Amino acid sequence: MGFDHRKYVAFQPVRKTDRRWPDQVIQQAPTWCAVDLRDGNQALVKPMTVAQKQRLFDLLVKLGFKEIEIGFPAASQPDFDFCRKLIEENRVPDDVRIQVLTQARPELIARTYEALEGAKNAIVHVYNSTSTVQREKVFAMDREGIREIAVNGARIVKAHAEKQPGTNWTFQYSPESFTGTELDFAAEVIDAVNDVWRPDQGQEVIINLPATVEMATPNVFADQIEWICDRVKYREHIQISVHTHNDRGCAVAAAELAVMAGADRVEGTLMGNGERTGNMDLVTMAMNLYSQGIDPTLDLSGMAEITDVVEACTEIQTHPRHPYAGELVFTAFSGSHQDAIRKCLSKYKEGDKWEIAYLPIDPRDLGRRYEEVVRINSQSGKGGVAYVLERDYKISMPRWLQIEFSKVVQQAAETEGGEVDSHTIHRLFEDKYLAVRPEWRLRTYDLHRTDDGVTASIEFGEKERLQLAGEGLGAVEAVAAALERRFGVTLAVEAYEEFALSEGTNANAMACIRIQVDGAPHSAAALAEDTTSATLQALLSAVANHVVAAAPEKARESTA
Ligand code: KIV
Ligand code: ZN
Repeated sequence: MGFDHRKYVAFQPVRKTDRRWPDQVIQQAPTWCAVDLRDGNQALVKPMTVAQKQRLFDLLVKLGFKEIEIGFPAASQPDFDFCRKLIEENRVPDDVRIQVLTQARPELIARTYEALEGAKNAIVHVYNSTSTVQREKVFAMDREGIREIAVNGARIVKAHAEKQPGTNWTFQYSPESFTGTELDFAAEVIDAVNDVWRPDQGQEVIINLPATVEMATPNVFADQIEWICDRVKYREHIQISVHTHNDRGCAVAAAELAVMAGADRVEGTLMGNGERTGNMDLVTMAMNLYSQGIDPTLDLSGMAEITDVVEACTEIQTHPRHPYAGELVFTAFSGSHQDAIRKCLSKYKEGDKWEIAYLPIDPRDLGRRYEEVVRINSQSGKGGVAYVLERDYKISMPRWLQIEFSKVVQQAAETEGGEVDSHTIHRLFEDKYLAVRPEWRLRTYDLHRTDDGVTASIEFGEKERLQLAGEGLGAVEAVAAALERRFGVTLAVEAYEEFALSEGTNANAMACIRIQVDGAPHSAAALAEDTTSATLQALLSAVANHVVAAAPEKARESTA
């Protein structure tokens, strides 16, 4: 009985009749602000050390972030120390603005400015909670009281900035718990703060609208953003920023729809680290833009380095299915998907537009390899197995052999219960088709074409060699006739294929053959110097399979 949905109240949608955002298309990347070092850090079991923060900060700069929230220096000594280190050691590039968070309280704002002394460019991010729940249950304050906290904070922020004119200051205000705040009240507080700051040309203000808790579907958040964009004063000199959390799993979607609704700036973290279910994932949103042909203005091409650094700093592993970054996100195990990918990739030429089934982006753009795309387990089919053999060993199998061999691989995968790597696939192929028993190794052959067909003689074996001769329409038929006579069997060649091998392989030719020996199917393949040798060896191996299987102890005698 504890699981009772009636305990919850549905979020009330925004009543809007002038909704325009659904028709908008994102044409360019928003301004990004990475909050890994503050919001992400506050969410860690073990907050980052100064050294870890420095490593993550350097990565964020390398990726191209121009706004980085580095901490909450008034609330944490390591954050204060890190802020000082960045400034005193001159570690902030001139085109990067460091941002710090503070509550709208006089003593915290004073300490924040102390931490920022000597900074070239800085964003002071001040916030207070404005939601109904916080007003009523946490602060026991009415709207006026909450608005006064914000306005007072804005005044103090401004006053401190005036005392440190050497820094290029930007002010940012967040009505924390915006998603739970009545829109008219959120606009009222924002306007009151901006009446203090007076946003203007060259003195833009950032108004950050957080989904501190994600409470509704992303379309509702977009409505809220569009509503605020339409109503607030000084709009042309305000950057509307969004800061979404992922409680319902839609933080990226909410931020994307918010940009469609007018937001200019997006805050988030790499891989979405952050409180509870996390912050908006910057990697996913930026890569979503990239996949639409839009420059994300961030360079995420070294994804392995990004995940390495993030994992080392946060001590959180990247999920293997994490969009764009996870180990398995470009991998297909399913046979039909492998087939489709293989066909699309074989038609893809450098410079083409990317249109590959099942791969929304080119894995190589993120430093990944095509080798990772097709991996084999018991779910894979003939196409994937064939692709791996061809890609890694230059062995191309005819379709009938693909079908047959994929069953061998599938059985191995089922027995092992996991993935079968390329090396194992090759070993299985060698064992099943290419292995030649010494007493069945082709030594020489001689072919004569006559008016009636071909006369063939072959010699095979190890120490004791066997010489046979036969006639037939072609070389295979002639040798088959000789083998039939010698071993007292009936042979029917069902299919064979021979082909030259590409460079980079030891042999020049490969042949695959499928025969019926006394009605039983046998397949074999062979590598050799020339296609005829390969075909005749494949034939010998296929017959050997039957002869050895039928009477193993006699097999040696019969060839001798
Ligand atoms: O989630 C949130 O509301 C915040 C604010 C401080 C912006 O992190
Ligand atoms: Zn947050």
